[in-house]
Amino acid sequence: MSKLLITNIGLLATPLGRSALAGKAQGEILKLSHAWIMTEDGVITEAGSGEPPIMEQERCFETIDAGGRLVTPGLVDAHTHLIFGGFRQHELADKLRGRTYLEILAAGGGILSTVKATRAASEAQLTAKALAALKEMLSFGVTLCEAKSGYGLSTEEELKQLRVVRNLNGTQPVELVSTFLGAHAIPPEYKDDHEGYVRLICEDMLPAVASQGLAEYCDVFCESGVFSVEESRRILSRALALGLKVKIHADEIDALGGAQLAGALGAVSAEHLIAVTDKGIKSMQKGGTIACLLPATSFYLGADYAPARKFIQAGVPVALATDYNPGSCPSLNLQLVMNLACLKDKMTPEEVLTAVTLNGAAAIGRAVSHGSIEAGKKADFVIRNAADLDYLCYRFGSNLAGTVIKGGIIC
Ligand code: NIG
Ligand code: FE
Repeated sequence: MSKLLITNIGLLATPLGRSALAGKAQGEILKLSHAWIMTEDGVITEAGSGEPPIMEQERCFETIDAGGRLVTPGLVDAHTHLIFGGFRQHELADKLRGRTYLEILAAGGGILSTVKATRAASEAQLTAKALAALKEMLSFGVTLCEAKSGYGLSTEEELKQLRVVRNLNGTQPVELVSTFLGAHAIPPEYKDDHEGYVRLICEDMLPAVASQGLAEYCDVFCESGVFSVEESRRILSRALALGLKVKIHADEIDALGGAQLAGALGAVSAEHLIAVTDKGIKSMQKGGTIACLLPATSFYLGADYAPARKFIQAGVPVALATDYNPGSCPSLNLQLVMNLACLKDKMTPEEVLTAVTLNGAAAIGRAVSHGSIEAGKKADFVIRNAADLDYLCYRFGSNLAGTVIKGGIIC
């Protein structure tokens, strides 16, 4: 039995609950001064303020003095394209010359150039590369993340990516939740046969993914020139019938109606949402869909920022994630996402904290066990080199994760 006690916490800041928080509640977090946290076998047993119970103190094997600093829950990165071969720095010059993301993709670059590199990489190579990324994530205080496939675009190659995700779980500290994203782009073999590729996804890829238990979620890139709303509906309906939960890359560049579809299907989350319409927001509110916003992608693409305040006003829970991928967000820094969410999405530090912890966990089905500091939850938290939450949201560009604790173990 391993027991851990964190004492002398200047400020403990955490949302509370076992499901996503929306509206006003998203900003109503618990702030405890002079706090302590007790854990046992990787689970939080108690947290409080003032002096920790003496008897319990004596029974703890290990005590950490937080030095009067801020402690937050471990961060949750609920949207990443973690598994890919190569990088795409060669697109930077094109981008600076004014070529858009969709123009680069239509010319066979973008996602398709990463598909080539991913197909050429072995499982061992992809694993080694993802391991390095997970290590960097952990250094920012991320203890749970989502990882998508979507750079294989054939049954075997998609399964390969998902096996990498499965093998990374439990072999290093960051926990992973896997998402099948076969509908990320049309592969070169199906360039003139969209319908054939949609059929391949529905009739071959999805049954294989489901029967091998390789993904919890199915996602679709619903966008002009990629997958239409109708194609997305077919793919996601098939996924639901096979027992997967669903997500959508929706209304990122054009307002196609992905958010309406997300609400209508009861998708767990819709992502990006830069171009979302009021109708889309309403549909998501009705369907209980979480808005997963990705401001670092807006930053890198030079695009607008998603209307976070509208979602909060409409009672749609907001999560925030990096979207880590080699094309539109080559960064793993979820702390930077927090800074951008304040400055560009006009969210308060309290709303932001909920978005990268409890609401992120809810967006990947882990809100019951992760995403807040309270009894019964996983002992995942971060001692920050900061005195308060405002400081964390204001010092952009610095890494303020001091000590990261994952499952009661100091990383
Ligand atoms: O979420 N939008 C689609 N997919 C990724 C980008 C993937 C890539 O460019 O490699 C995204 O931004
Ligand atoms: Fe994405």
